[in-house]
Amino acid sequence: MGRLDGKVAVITGAAGGIGREAALLFSEEGASVVVADVSAESGEKTAAECREAVFEKVDVSDAGSVEALYDAATRRFGGVDVLYNNAGIMPPDDDSILTTEPDAWDRVHAVNARGVFLCCKFGIPRLLDRGGGSVINVASFVALMGAATSQIAYTASKGAVLSMSRELAVQFARRGVRVNALCPGPVETPLLMRLFSDDPAAYERRRVHLPMGRLATAREIASAALFLASDESSYVNGATFLVDGGLSAAYVTPE
Ligand SMILES: NC(=O)c1ccc[n+]([C@@H]2O[C@H](COP(=O)([O-])OP(=O)(O)OC[C@H]3O[C@@H](n4cnc5c(N)ncnc54)[C@H](O)[C@@H]3O)[C@@H](O)[C@H]2O)c1
Repeated sequence: MGRLDGKVAVITGAAGGIGREAALLFSEEGASVVVADVSAESGEKTAAECREAVFEKVDVSDAGSVEALYDAATRRFGGVDVLYNNAGIMPPDDDSILTTEPDAWDRVHAVNARGVFLCCKFGIPRLLDRGGGSVINVASFVALMGAATSQIAYTASKGAVLSMSRELAVQFARRGVRVNALCPGPVETPLLMRLFSDDPAAYERRRVHLPMGRLATAREIASAALFLASDESSYVNGATFLVDGGLSAAYVTPE
């Protein structure tokens, strides 16, 4: 028996990275998965590797596109039980506040904050139609901790996701909808690892703060999302769900 048997999950940003890993894991655990992403080629590929999944092209920053996504999911699988709002961007021109231009701020907020807002706005009514469900909004440890290596728009957008999630959790709890903010620590994704292989000192600067001395794997974050998606987390609501290997608990780490 799978941990998500009979559930329909819509995962945004599921073409690659953590979202792709989650699509594979959720489908292994019995869910029907909607792989939703702007990137069609890799999105189709992810969906094809899942047990039962379809790809839907979506731009999470566009209201019409997000509304159409949940319409399509409902038409295809009869309803929606899990919203995993995972799509997010971190462009290179989002840096210190001294150099980040308003345009970069707007682009980051359009995907990371407005995107989660739109997915909740059009997705939660679908969960209510089924008598409840689980919403997993992806924030980050940076919503809770400051970094001198700033990415100011990204950090602020994740703060918005965190506070929005808390409020939705309180508003919809009595109607069966749980909303949690998944806050990963740094994850070993291809993009990040490529960045660090070009600049080992930047990697070391971050690794030293991690009590475990390593980044998370995408599977470790997807496994936490699986718990939040499943009925095993039926009393977990409004949580700042940190999956950071103890990073946010650390003052001095082992040598
Ligand atoms: N990787 C990390 O270290 C880390 C740490 C904390 C939080 N996060 C968060 O986890 C989530 C996933 O991160 P990842 O590292 O797997 O990222 P990733 O870049 O590997 O994947 C993000 C996916 O989102 C898609 N996407 C981008 N813009 C979109 C849009 N407008 N509409 C629909 N899809 C869009 C991309 O095509 C891509 O497939 C993000 O929200 C990220 O902020 C990541």
